[in-house]
Amino acid sequence: MEKNKEIVLSGIRPTGFLHLGNYFGALKNWSRMQYEYDCYFFIADWHSLTTHADTSELRLNTRRLVSELIAGGLDPGKCTIYAQSDIPEIPELYLYLNMLAYKGELEKTVTFKDKARQQPENINAGLLTYPVLQAADILIHRAHYVPVGKDQEQHIEMTRNFAERFNHRYGEIFPIPRAFSYSKDLVKILSLDGSGKMSKSEQQMNTIYLSDEDALITRKIMKAKTDQGPTAPNSKKPEYIQGLFTLLGLVSSPEILAGFEYDFNHCHIRYGDMKKQLAEDMIRFISPIRGKAAALQNDPAQIDEILAIGAEKARKSAAATLLEVRKALGFKYH
Ligand code: TYM
Repeated sequence: MEKNKEIVLSGIRPTGFLHLGNYFGALKNWSRMQYEYDCYFFIADWHSLTTHADTSELRLNTRRLVSELIAGGLDPGKCTIYAQSDIPEIPELYLYLNMLAYKGELEKTVTFKDKARQQPENINAGLLTYPVLQAADILIHRAHYVPVGKDQEQHIEMTRNFAERFNHRYGEIFPIPRAFSYSKDLVKILSLDGSGKMSKSEQQMNTIYLSDEDALITRKIMKAKTDQGPTAPNSKKPEYIQGLFTLLGLVSSPEILAGFEYDFNHCHIRYGDMKKQLAEDMIRFISPIRGKAAALQNDPAQIDEILAIGAEKARKSAAATLLEVRKALGFKYH
């Protein structure tokens, strides 16, 4: 890795199969940034414990996720790929940052409130301090940019606050990181029924995974929610229709997108045709990634080797930061 490049950090939880939201919100940017920045991408396995206490599938899920990330564009020769649990410096920084994070702000976090609603029987302290651990992930490499989807924006904002508080109190150790996307705004991919964001563990028929077979992709897209079509020219699109147009914009050609936009604006759109086109273009996009990921999964030793090399590089960077942090805090007695 060259010296003096700005630092990029991002992560993903090993809680399910990679889907279009993960790809267009995160991985697509990661794959481009690896050629321009000093990039660290990691599997957030500790974070997954806040919602998935059962660890019996963790190894399998982590290996599969790494395969999918590489199939989707990461080059282990160009970026550092590692597992969070291989970096013991992270929890030490998490401890320090916890002293700078207030209960009130943690309780107000949107993701915390959502999860507390989804799992009222398990509102654990890890869930409450999830954004603090995420801040430690980012700050341990003194990252400048964090490529994420829209749903992570608040967490990055909190990281900025924690970093500023630390710098203010103990000295300028951390750059203040920014959420990043090459697109104008951070991306949000909607679920196929338009009822919220596409997500790893819920609503399987409303989520398109990079591992989905061609026929399943077609089936999911053909049953995506639509309606009778607009009755007035240039109407505002309902969210579930906008979601389909967004996907079309991501996997189809600009001409195809423009054609369906025109039909919509002139009230003669045929959603059946649009979905057929979308399914065709989606399959063309997904099937090579699916094939490559499957091949990589046949060689777990290679994946483990990538994680071992990544862990070594990431630990070096983490240890250097932690040394500065300890010095700033005054924890250096001998
Ligand atoms: P996770 O595992 O939920 O998602 C990984 C990445 O995918 C993006 N994403 C989406 N983007 C657009 N539309 C969607 N429907 C969609 N669904 C997911 C997410 O924004 C994310 O970029 N807390 C993080 C993991 C994490 C992390 C970090 C990220 C832990 N530490 C440090 C960045 C930096 C999470 O749960 O992502």
